[in-house]
Amino acid sequence: MSKLTIPTPDDFHIHLRDGAALARTVADAASQCARALVMPNLTPALDSVAAVEGYRERIIAHIPEGTTFTPLMSLYLSDGLTPQTVIEAKAAGVVAVKWYPRGATTNSAQGVAEVSAIYPLLEALEAEDMLLLIHGEVTDPEIDIFDREARFIDEVLCDLRVRFPRLRMVLEHITTKRGVEFVRSQAKNTAATITPQHLLFNRNALLVGGIKPHYYCLPILKTEADRAALVEAATSGDPRFFLGTDSAPHAQSAKENACGCAGCYSAHASLALYAAVFDQAGALDKLGNFAARFGADFYRLPYNPGTVTLERVEQRFPETLPYGDTTIVPFLAGERWPWRLLA
Ligand code: NCD
Ligand code: ZN
Repeated sequence: MSKLTIPTPDDFHIHLRDGAALARTVADAASQCARALVMPNLTPALDSVAAVEGYRERIIAHIPEGTTFTPLMSLYLSDGLTPQTVIEAKAAGVVAVKWYPRGATTNSAQGVAEVSAIYPLLEALEAEDMLLLIHGEVTDPEIDIFDREARFIDEVLCDLRVRFPRLRMVLEHITTKRGVEFVRSQAKNTAATITPQHLLFNRNALLVGGIKPHYYCLPILKTEADRAALVEAATSGDPRFFLGTDSAPHAQSAKENACGCAGCYSAHASLALYAAVFDQAGALDKLGNFAARFGADFYRLPYNPGTVTLERVEQRFPETLPYGDTTIVPFLAGERWPWRLLA
């Protein structure tokens, strides 16, 4: 198959940033999907309904003319978040609450330091039937960075699953075999998003032959066995695994830096990245559900109208892209790629 038409996809995990960045990020997101779940890790964090609503308006103002794109908004689970805010957020159309363990990743300083402190909030989410999106990594400095997801699952998530059995949870950007096994071991109200970079690469891409900052994201790339487990999960047809790119732009100078930021910018070509993964796995027939159905089902959203078409025709990714008054280096900058999205 050299051409593939799938229903119009959704991206259930994206970072659009704010201000001048929106001109780039919203247009790129809208070129790939009709809806995207927008992460709330701005500075300051979006932990009030007014802040989320203001952000939604700024995003909508940047949707290119003639393009259909709906930002799905999330609220940041800070220590200050109250059950009342959760209720108001739901009424305002906010679809999920994002939990960052404090210090786990970019802009997580306002995240949750102590999980037991948020039990009342999780009760409210469960009562409101609102989704909890989880950055699943422990932050204890003693714990090896490659073990942080698995340790979070074993030490935090298993317990939470028992305490809040009806809560609908998405374990965001899973990176490990343990993550796949955990989701599979749970009832149908636990799901996971999977990024293109974790399907395509293991940690060698980051570290062999020199440090490659554009492959650095959190959770960090893992082993080949982990990557293979993710590909198997994504292409298996199990509806609990669906598309979430975690496209996360940082200016070139912030990535190519002695203390480089975490995040890969894949929104310029995310569908072509996934298409190559599914093609290599001999599972192109599974891409449509992964990209356009399973996430919508889990979020209880109607499917998008229309289709998009990908073709197995080589393209070359740009070296850099304009980003506000600076530039970003997109994921796989300058590389040849076997698939492209037809405009
Ligand atoms: C994200 C960012 O830059 O906001 N970075 C990343 O490496 N994925 C934050 C996140 O999702 O962890
Ligand atoms: Zn993210």
